[in-house]
Amino acid sequence: MKPKAYHASGEHKIGKTLNKLGVDIAHPKFPRVFLETGTNDGAGVDWALSLPDVFHSIFSCEIWEPNFIDLRVRYGATRLEGYAEIPLIAGNDDQLVSVIRKMTTGGTFLEIALLDSRIWLPMLLKARVDASLIWLDAHPGSGVPSELGLPLKDELKALREFSRPDDVVLIDDISNFGTDIDGGCYKDTTREYVFEQLKEIYPDHEIISTIGMEAFFSEAHGYDDYFAVIPPHLMGDTQ
Ligand SMILES: C[S@@+](CC[C@H](N)C(=O)[O-])C[C@H]1O[C@@H](n2cnc3c(N)ncnc32)[C@H](O)[C@@H]1O
Repeated sequence: MKPKAYHASGEHKIGKTLNKLGVDIAHPKFPRVFLETGTNDGAGVDWALSLPDVFHSIFSCEIWEPNFIDLRVRYGATRLEGYAEIPLIAGNDDQLVSVIRKMTTGGTFLEIALLDSRIWLPMLLKARVDASLIWLDAHPGSGVPSELGLPLKDELKALREFSRPDDVVLIDDISNFGTDIDGGCYKDTTREYVFEQLKEIYPDHEIISTIGMEAFFSEAHGYDDYFAVIPPHLMGDTQ
């Protein structure tokens, strides 16, 4: 299979969204750890890898083995030459998973796990020592079966238990919440529910829905569909 093309670093919607919201990623209190649920083809990981002065560690998980195999091939042939792949026992049910692990030449630690975020996220959040940029982007669609369901409710439970005051959280695709699309996997996770959860978990943070900012986010579709949860000291002037 032909490897997928690399992603240009400035082009990812995480960076664009933070930029549009005026969040300064060079701020001394901006998180130095990147956590992502749903790796897919590695676009989010590539964005974080392109910022070695910001992130010292990058962690991502992918449930769908065909996507993970694709990542293994692509990363093995490119940035992860010499990477280690380690079988691990993880979770409460002795689930065997595989982890791609690498210290890059730029000094960034990267780990991608073949694992359901419902198991992975609480383990990671519990073990971490630093605040994180948490990119919650795991969901079915594009060939990933809807039967896997939307893990967001469980991810929010993990955040409730292990959040940190300096975390920045971005949640993708909120316009799908509460709808019937993709086999109904979003149906019982409404935007109102997610917003209320975030308010309770991060009471001092700004919680911004970028829906309705279409005029503001006028460049293109693709980054007007988020909850952004930002600590007050990182809130800038929107551009
Ligand atoms: C939209 S893609 C992620 C895109 C990527 N985060 C980025 O920024 O480019 C969603 C991915 O989530 C994965 N996924 C779905 N449910 C998951 C779960 N419970 N745990 C981990 N990954 C999951 C899917 O297989 C798919 O690869």
